Amino acid sequence: MGRRDNYITIAYLEYLRKTVDFKKIRSIAWLGWTDENIIVKDVCDMCPNLEKSHMYDIDTSINDQVIKWDINKKWNISGYDLIICLRTSLFAESAQHFVSELKQTVENNKVVIFDFMLPELRPLMNYSSTIRKQVVEGFGLPQKANAFLSWHVPVIREVMPEEYSEAHKNAIKSFQERGGLNALVQPTFTKIDFYRKGIPATGGGGYSLMPKFDKIYKSFYKEEVGVDYDTDSMIYVVQTPDVFLTEEMLRDNGISLKHPHFLCAFNLEPETHQSVYDAPDYPEMWSFTLAVIERE
Ligand SMILES: C[S@@+](CC[C@H](N)C(=O)[O-])C[C@H]1O[C@@H](n2cnc3c(N)ncnc32)[C@H](O)[C@@H]1O
Repeated sequence: MGRRDNYITIAYLEYLRKTVDFKKIRSIAWLGWTDENIIVKDVCDMCPNLEKSHMYDIDTSINDQVIKWDINKKWNISGYDLIICLRTSLFAESAQHFVSELKQTVENNKVVIFDFMLPELRPLMNYSSTIRKQVVEGFGLPQKANAFLSWHVPVIREVMPEEYSEAHKNAIKSFQERGGLNALVQPTFTKIDFYRKGIPATGGGGYSLMPKFDKIYKSFYKEEVGVDYDTDSMIYVVQTPDVFLTEEMLRDNGISLKHPHFLCAFNLEPETHQSVYDAPDYPEMWSFTLAVIERE
């Protein structure tokens, strides 16, 4: 899968070793898997009595063993000893739909393990004043904001020459006529676009679910991320409130997150996907919560 697999597998396997009795596992459903990667292989190797291991994903084009499954439709997953869904819950577009399918999955299977990715915290002080103003306006951030969390990230780009005003074009021409250096005619201002993460090249999808686990974050965020978890100054930016998944929603549906484990991970995506070019927070650092989902 990704370039983080080797690093992240260590963290996942450590967690699974603590929470799963592998000897009891005869069947596993992998939700959000297009192919057997190192995580699948390592976990299967640790289950001495494993009889079946099934992969489910929206994309069935890579491996013909993969069973079609869309996290935004009915899941219909039952009868497994272990369900593992990693790095996929963020594709859920409605938290309510997600919780109701998760609840049925908990009722119809034995051990259910998910992770919930959280976008990295982007401090506003990382942006120069002009960009910061555009970010604040673009996201509609309140005055008290000093950082934001969003699956939409600002991408800073240079303004194309054809977008220059006539006066600016004339100034450039005049510079060139007088033998001015090219450096002087470089764009003098920048614009930002808001880019939604997780959109595959084929279009559609994109990261949506926003796990806002205030209680868990209050306990772990400071130690893992290095700053206090303060929802007054850290603003979640979402397109619709429907994407917020909270501890209360889970509890209201009779399920909860057991053995929560919160971790930070570098997101070593290819440079073309890197989003903020002037921010000194490169490479991006996401965090995620691993948990066993159980009935309350
Ligand atoms: C980052 S990969 C994670 C792969 C694997 N779970 C892992 O941790 O190595 C995300 C997976 O989610 C799948 N996916 C994207 N949208 C989905 C959807 N709506 N329903 C089900 N799977 C989806 C992708 O095809 C991809 O296999």
